[in-house]
Amino acid sequence: MKKIIIANWKMNPVSEKEAEWILSGVKKTVAKLKKTQVVVCPPFIYFNNLQKIIGKSANLSLGAQNSFWEIEGAFTGEVSPEMIKNYGGSYVILGHSERRALGETDEMVSKKTLVCLKTGLKTVVCVGEKVRDEQGDYLVFLKDEIRNSLNKIQKRFLRNLIIAYEPIWAIGKKDTEAMSPADIHEMAIYIKKILSEIYGQESALAVSILYGGSVGRGNTGEIIKNGGVDGLLVGHQSLKSESFNEILKSVEKI
Ligand code: PGA
Repeated sequence: MKKIIIANWKMNPVSEKEAEWILSGVKKTVAKLKKTQVVVCPPFIYFNNLQKIIGKSANLSLGAQNSFWEIEGAFTGEVSPEMIKNYGGSYVILGHSERRALGETDEMVSKKTLVCLKTGLKTVVCVGEKVRDEQGDYLVFLKDEIRNSLNKIQKRFLRNLIIAYEPIWAIGKKDTEAMSPADIHEMAIYIKKILSEIYGQESALAVSILYGGSVGRGNTGEIIKNGGVDGLLVGHQSLKSESFNEILKSVEKI
């Protein structure tokens, strides 16, 4: 199965020209990839023009960083999964820690996840603990977060579900400060175990698990090789075509 590498641009860059420039700088590298699916998640406002650059590229998809839980109606400022789909988006990131910090709850994430999966979007649900503690309370936190964020999701919707494990303490740093591949592997197994408890082993194993948090050119290869994950969610290092291209090349080499 292809590795999934998702670029989460967050609220960057500030101009459309720059957004087009970053994507154009990545497109050539992406065209050569055989084992990697790349998803770029820009701010909504750039969707239309970036979709034109992506064109019919099979390895490159467009994704959103959020979605609302209704399809249409009086919800000022929101964007629906149907709109994302109609604008060429095929992926959506939900429950990112930066959105959770603004007040998004597990209940909201669960409602959004259900509607996005029903719309046919590949839905990436982000989970991850704020801190680690000696007593292992973070494991309980993670289990609850996963269970609650998926509490509206029945087994039949799992086909398009992806879980991104992003420990908050490891986000936005240098790649030397990210989580170690061995620890990532342990967490990937733990997440699969939680999913197995909810959905049964066979269905759980079909869900892709990604890692996110300070992924860069220095640690990509090792995480893909030894982290036991199906891909990566890349933040700040996806905003420079040069570093993102290096990341993609290291994935492809494994
Ligand atoms: P980072 O962000 O790669 O800048 O750590 C990852 C994320 O928040 O998705």
